[in-house]
Amino acid sequence: MATEAPRDARPLTVPDVRKRKGSGTPLVMVTAYDAPTARVADAADVDLILVGDSLAMVVLGYDDTLQVTIDDMAHHVAAVARARPRPLVVGDMPWMSFHLSTDDTVRNAAKLVRAGAGAVKLEGGRKRLDAVRAIVDAEIPVMGHLGLTPQSVHALGGFRVQGKELDAARAIVDDATALAEAGCFAIVLECVPDAVARVVTEAVPVPTIGIGAGRHCDGQVLVFHDLVGLDDRVTPRFVRRYAELKHDATVAVARFANDVRNGTFPSSKETYHVADDLTAAIGIYGATNAEADATT
Ligand code: KIV
Repeated sequence: MATEAPRDARPLTVPDVRKRKGSGTPLVMVTAYDAPTARVADAADVDLILVGDSLAMVVLGYDDTLQVTIDDMAHHVAAVARARPRPLVVGDMPWMSFHLSTDDTVRNAAKLVRAGAGAVKLEGGRKRLDAVRAIVDAEIPVMGHLGLTPQSVHALGGFRVQGKELDAARAIVDDATALAEAGCFAIVLECVPDAVARVVTEAVPVPTIGIGAGRHCDGQVLVFHDLVGLDDRVTPRFVRRYAELKHDATVAVARFANDVRNGTFPSSKETYHVADDLTAAIGIYGATNAEADATT
C-alpha cells in the first residue's frame, strides 16, 4: 500500500522560495491574519503565508488598505507567528511605513521581523528602489508587489486591472527587472493581463507570484477569506472559492440561536454536575442528575 511521503517539517526559508524559480512546482501563498488561519494554512501545506495589509479590508472592516499602521501589521504578524507555521511568513509593509525616509523604512521592516516575519513585502516599482535596497541591506528579505497596488488606489483611480496599454505593460516589466536587481527575492503581480505576467516572469530571475495575473507566474496567491468563502461581499473574477464558510458559519450560529431559544441547549451532557447527594444537600436544583438528564 502506498504511504504518503512525510512532510518536511523544516520551516521554509527565503532561499527555498528563491530556488523554486523555474522548478516546475508553483509556489502557493495564502494570506492569514491570526493564529487559527495560520494553522489552517500550515496544515494545508502552503509555501508562504502573507500577513497582507488586506487585513484592513478583510478583517478590520475598512474600505481600503490605507488605514492600517505598522503597529497593526506587527500585531497580526505576531499572532500568525505564534502558530509557528512551517510556511515562510511574509509581513506586508503598510502605506506610509516605507515612504518617509530610509531610516524609518528599515525601522518599520525590523518591527515586522521582530514580530515574527521572515520577510517583508512592499508595493511599488522603481520609485521604491531606495526602500528595497535599504531593507535588503539590513539583511531583511523583500518581496516586491507590482500591477494593481492597492495602496495607490487614489492615484490609480480605483481597483483596476493594470498594464493593459503597451506603455503601462512595459513599465511593469521594467519595474520588475529593477526590483529584482535591487534584491527582491520574489515579486507579487496583482491584476495584470496574463501576457504581461508571462513577460515579467520570463524577464526576472526571481519567482513571480500572481493574483489575477494568469497561470504563467511561478506561483499563485489568494486572500484566505476569499478562497474559503468567509467574505462573499465582492468576488473578483480571479478568485476561485473552495468553500462557503460564511454560509456554513451562519447556519451553525443560527442553529445555536434556535437551540438556545427552544431550550435544547445546553443539554445535560453539556453541563457540569455535582453528585446527587450534594445536589440534595445544598438544594441547588431540586432535581437529581437522572431527572435533569431526562429533561434534555
Ligand atoms: O495584502 C494582501 O493581501 C496582498 C495580496 C493581495 C497579494 O497584498
